[in-house]
Amino acid sequence: MPEKSFYATTPIYYVNDAPHIGHAYTSVAGDVLTRWHRQRGETAVYLTGTDEHGTKVERKAAEHDVSPQEWVDRLVEEHWRPVLETLEIANDDFIRTTEARHKRGVQHFWEVLKEKGFVYPAPFEGPYCVGCEEFKVAADLMEGTGEYEGQLVCKVHHKPVEMLSENNWFFRLSDFGDRLLEHYERNPNAVAPTSARNEVVAFIKEGLNDISMSRSSVGWGIPLPWDSDQVVYVWFDALLNYITAIGYGGDEAAEQRFAQTWPADVHLIGKDILRFHAIFWPAMLMAAELPLPKQVFAHGWLLVGGEKMSKSKLTGIAPSDITDDFGVDAFRYYFMSAIHFGSDGSFSWEDMRDRYSAELANGLGNLASRSAAMIGKYFEGRLPEPGAYTNMDLALQDRLATVADSADAHMVKLNFSAGIAAIREFVEEVNGYVTTQEPWKLARDPEQRNRLATVLYTVAESLRAIAVLYAPVMPGICEELWQSLGAAETAGALADQNVRQVADWGVLRPGATITKTPPLFPRLEEDKA
Ligand code: ME8
Ligand code: MG
Repeated sequence: MPEKSFYATTPIYYVNDAPHIGHAYTSVAGDVLTRWHRQRGETAVYLTGTDEHGTKVERKAAEHDVSPQEWVDRLVEEHWRPVLETLEIANDDFIRTTEARHKRGVQHFWEVLKEKGFVYPAPFEGPYCVGCEEFKVAADLMEGTGEYEGQLVCKVHHKPVEMLSENNWFFRLSDFGDRLLEHYERNPNAVAPTSARNEVVAFIKEGLNDISMSRSSVGWGIPLPWDSDQVVYVWFDALLNYITAIGYGGDEAAEQRFAQTWPADVHLIGKDILRFHAIFWPAMLMAAELPLPKQVFAHGWLLVGGEKMSKSKLTGIAPSDITDDFGVDAFRYYFMSAIHFGSDGSFSWEDMRDRYSAELANGLGNLASRSAAMIGKYFEGRLPEPGAYTNMDLALQDRLATVADSADAHMVKLNFSAGIAAIREFVEEVNGYVTTQEPWKLARDPEQRNRLATVLYTVAESLRAIAVLYAPVMPGICEELWQSLGAAETAGALADQNVRQVADWGVLRPGATITKTPPLFPRLEEDKA
């Protein structure tokens, strides 16, 4: 039996509208994380996809006078799949909840829970927010203002809730409060960051009520296997994507894939959907006697002008608005480095431009271009053979080992900004090394030829390591750098470089062709700068 794969997921996004940078944020984080794990030599499975059922999507289709199926097909093909390409997301699978494999798994799952006695019929009466696709309680609501004066609105969407009264099927969520508390006590990292964990534990301690797992007044969904007048409540359909995509409820081969992949190592989510993931989902899994995910990580909001960016409030910025000007690598770098993963963060064009110029164009970009230029000028573009290393050179090699360890420790803990900061510091140190070694002066003295060779080899090897360490964050740029260093010939593909062996010195072969590339991070146009 092969080793279990590292398994990470994003939420499956509603296809009521096109993606904005909030969705891109989660997807990029998961991609950086899984690329990092692959570069540790692990097999990794990265799943993303779309949540296509429910009232919100059904109404959106109706507004556009098309069937829900036509609507979701269009949105997925024209917007949701293409954005993954724009962002260079290397997902292994893309699950749509309208697919047969998902429907089959969902029906199987609920059949099992019904047989085990966790599902029973009962009337539901209460408020529902279509924006959240969530049954609400009084504490979730507030008095509306303006056009909604006199009505109760959802605290998240500021739109009126709808009063439901229907005969549904309920899931015995109330059975699981104690077991959930015990689980979170024993596994303090099962919900992260700590603020999210505290919220979840406090919520469970207030007491859990049984919850509707089906809807009788909704048509667009997966029919209950035992009652075809009802569909599975959209959240109890969507959450199951994490297991249906990897083979749950399928044939023997599929089940084997499931055994080798489940449980998830981490579900990446925004904090808006924490309770669904850290309460409902593990309770469902407990009921089905399946292992629980090792971690649910709830990151913060991307704010624009102080407000959470959202589709419903029309504050969304499309990822391509940014990648068109800055490129995809800078986009990924910016969001993973400028905002601490787990905290809220404000996006601003000014900050994006400042960091692009200081950290990328003048930092890494400058280092790469000046070292290639010097090897071109002083050694006809051939990597020189290093002579004896001085303490300065060895100190840089030592630093690389420390930086690689520290980056690895941070990245596997999803502390992307700290991991990147470690690598960035190394870039600065190598730039500092060039400044103090003054290769342009060494080049004027024929007796220093050997020293010049050692300095430039040291810089090139450092860049080789930087390309490997930054590859999960900036795959495109790092590939260019890798090629320009002639590294592929001696070391193979960039994606195969192990981040834990990156500090082993001397990978680049003297004599290799070093090519000058166009600037990795071109200067921004005047009107943008
Ligand atoms: O909730 N800042 O889908 P959704 C950061 N279908 N992240 C943001 C964000 C922002 N301003 N806006 C969105 C759903 N996100 C369900 C999920 S999972 C079984 C079903 C990201 O389209 C973040 O990951 O509303 C958030 O949790 C998700 O998009 C919500 O996407
Ligand atoms: Mg949402």
